[in-house]
Amino acid sequence: MKSRRFLASASCIEIYRCGSGGRKGFNSCIRRVITTAFAIFPALVILIHSITYVYRRKWGNFIIEEPALLEDDSHGHRQYYEWDTSSDFIPVSQDISETSTEELCRSFPHHLVRHMVQPVLKMGHTESPDKIEAQMESVSACIEDLLIFSDLEETLHGHQVIDILADMPAAYHFENEDFVNYTRIRHQRQQAHDPRSNDTWTLDGWRLDKYKFLPMVERAWRMRPGKRWYFFYETDTYVVWDNVFRFLANLNHRLPLYIGSPSPGLLRDNEDPDSVTFFANGGPGFVLSRGAMKKLLHRQSGMDGEYKEAPLNRRWLELLRNDPCGDSVLGWVLHNVGIDLSGYWPLFNPHPLHSIPFGNDYWCQPVLTMHKTKSDDMGKLWRWEHSRRILDRPLLYEDLHGFHHLNRGFYLEDWDNCCWGDYQGSNVTSFVECGMACSEDEGCFQYRYHLGECTFMRFMRFGEARDPQIPSEFYDDHEWTYEESRFMSGWAQRRIDAWIEERKCRKVQWVRPSLERIF
Ligand SMILES: *[C@@H]1O[C@H](CO)[C@@H](O)[C@H](O)[C@H]1NC(C)=O
Ligand SMILES: *[C@@H]1O[C@H](CO)[C@@H](O)[C@H](O)[C@H]1NC(C)=O
Ligand SMILES: *[C@@H]1O[C@H](CO)[C@@H](O)[C@H](O)[C@H]1NC(C)=O
Repeated sequence: MKSRRFLASASCIEIYRCGSGGRKGFNSCIRRVITTAFAIFPALVILIHSITYVYRRKWGNFIIEEPALLEDDSHGHRQYYEWDTSSDFIPVSQDISETSTEELCRSFPHHLVRHMVQPVLKMGHTESPDKIEAQMESVSACIEDLLIFSDLEETLHGHQVIDILADMPAAYHFENEDFVNYTRIRHQRQQAHDPRSNDTWTLDGWRLDKYKFLPMVERAWRMRPGKRWYFFYETDTYVVWDNVFRFLANLNHRLPLYIGSPSPGLLRDNEDPDSVTFFANGGPGFVLSRGAMKKLLHRQSGMDGEYKEAPLNRRWLELLRNDPCGDSVLGWVLHNVGIDLSGYWPLFNPHPLHSIPFGNDYWCQPVLTMHKTKSDDMGKLWRWEHSRRILDRPLLYEDLHGFHHLNRGFYLEDWDNCCWGDYQGSNVTSFVECGMACSEDEGCFQYRYHLGECTFMRFMRFGEARDPQIPSEFYDDHEWTYEESRFMSGWAQRRIDAWIEERKCRKVQWVRPSLERIF
């Protein structure tokens, strides 16, 4: 340390002498300055680094820089960002007992949607009205400038729903079997001059879904250019906006970022299974930064300013025809322009709320999205969120656990909480014995009894109601009684309570991106 400081001050003197000596002297002086600059630069870097290190040790967050990484966690193989975040909702939390949706929406940080994050909802005309209503009355309720892309035009809660398939090349509509009914309906509607006229043909929503991804990304930029982030989600995605805003505020939108829950996609080398690329599963939603959008939509142009490349949605038609999944195609297209996925599972979670396996892996991490959440849960969860938001702490899985599990009781009849992290329980002959055996097995958090089989599970999973059932593979074994065919689920509540008590989250674990930690 001492010698470096000496070197630094010696260089200062050299520079100070530069003033006199004519042109020649001046040139050699410049050379001297450059040489000394090279000499002192590493020293300066080390010096500044040491000073900031000392400051940081002493006064915590005195210097704002790359957030510190924690080596936390009982497994010792995970790392987390230590982000200080705060909620932009005003008021942060409120009494929800007699509060209308409009009143709750007054607390929504509308300015963030105006300037920072563009929400884009992808839906299908033939999705169940309950599902669409639940989405519009919860996650999407407060978003004034929402882009909705679908397979037919309509209006929904005051929003103009855009038929995004119309952006596909016209010739494609005729060549492709998947588009037969889509083309017929459009034609019929144009004839009737009435967008609400009865549709005689049905759209196969799933078959058409994959065609929406590329035009959707392109259109979102064209309609709302230059936003920092584009957040794409679906009708059955639950989005915790408060956490999304906290999360994105800590990432650089100028970099080409593609964020979501990783799923294995196409191979870079068809011969090599290890060359798998990952794409963001569309269900839990995904994010593209401004940097990623620019890079993805960039088109080469020629000498006269003419584009030499077709627009994005026309460049990948062949691939789209052969791949059943649009999110997979989008991931591959992004990979081809040099943008690979930042995998943020379980922040983006393919599990629906009722089937999340709560346990060590999740506990102190924030939840940003959940896929396939039940229509009934969407609205309730959305209101609940408003009642328990905390200024300096995002919603963690620890908190979310309370939503279903706090009042569920020790066991539920005609209920299936299986199977995640399940293993064979003891040889018993009743549900009660199954429960006693679970409480004696250290790893058992919950159990299920069905057709004489006692199953233990390592996680806390809520599950759902399920009618009695005898699967065909059980027909020959035995004459099963009605009682035996019922699904019976229980929880080792005392063990669970003790486990929770031990794991109060003091630090929020904002996981770093990973393509190994996947769903
Ligand atoms: C659509 O069909 C229903 C039932 O067949 C009918 O009551 C309704 O008037 C029709 N609407 C239009 C716009 O044709
Ligand atoms: C087109 O609509 C008809 C009538 O509803 C239906 O039977 C058929 O399966 C549909 N075809 C496709 C490709 O969706
Ligand atoms: C459970 O019972 C079956 C038959 O009743 C027996 O074959 C099996 O070995 C038993 N398993 C254990 C773990 O005791």
